Amino acid sequence: MSTHIRTKRLTVPQLVAMKGQQKIVSLTAYSSSIARLIDPVVDFILIGDSTAMVGYGRASTLSMQLEEIIGHTRAVVDSTRLACVIADMPFASYQESHEQAFRNCAQVLARTGCDAVKLEANKTLASTVEFLVARGIPVMAHIGLMPQFVNVMGGFKAQGLSAQNAGVIAADARANLEAGAFSLLLEGVAEGVARQITLDSEMPTIGIGASPACDGQILVTEDLLGLSGEHLPRFVKQYADVGAVIRDACERFAEDVRNAGFPEARHCYGL
Ligand code: KIV
Repeated sequence: MSTHIRTKRLTVPQLVAMKGQQKIVSLTAYSSSIARLIDPVVDFILIGDSTAMVGYGRASTLSMQLEEIIGHTRAVVDSTRLACVIADMPFASYQESHEQAFRNCAQVLARTGCDAVKLEANKTLASTVEFLVARGIPVMAHIGLMPQFVNVMGGFKAQGLSAQNAGVIAADARANLEAGAFSLLLEGVAEGVARQITLDSEMPTIGIGASPACDGQILVTEDLLGLSGEHLPRFVKQYADVGAVIRDACERFAEDVRNAGFPEARHCYGL
């Protein structure tokens, strides 16, 4: 259960101030129902572009559209009042130019009321982060395994395993911190690399498959609930089998309809 009492939505500076004080807890949400449930439990909610795969059943995150992220983010903001809300910027919505990135990130903030955006940003894209932060857009920089680079990387592969690759990730981290990112999300990064970046950074690091060395952890909610099907990443701890609960409830409904012609309910209007 939650160990903190919060009465207002956590702000980005408050999230940053948690570094070194307490571990940061985060989960993804795409819908109002999940957002409402996790709001009192987590520090921030990410509307991840993973919804392309988890929510829409697509093969990668690349097809996620700006309008889709805006719709899901609005649902999450409108259904929550405590957690900081961060929207994931979809592929091709910020890589073209600084101006394109600002236009689209500003739209996301203005139309949804979310608190910040997350960008998959290597060293090259750090100048975009700098441009956005200077114009009032708080940015969480996602480094390490970046799913929007799946075609460049040739799959979803753990990062930082060789000295050369560890150096690339450390340079990505440095560039984004210098650019003003308020946090680094480390995905699929080797423990030693995650630990060093966390030690070197004044901003909090959030890990997903990046070891306990990070300042906080995030998981895709459907993964920990057992709603993601068979393709569960190896680092995920499944806390519940909600899929089985849903299947069972639906089977009992089907049985009622087939046997009795009607599900027994508390009220039946019109009878
Ligand atoms: O899209 C997503 O869900 C993410 C994960 C790292 C949480 O970016």
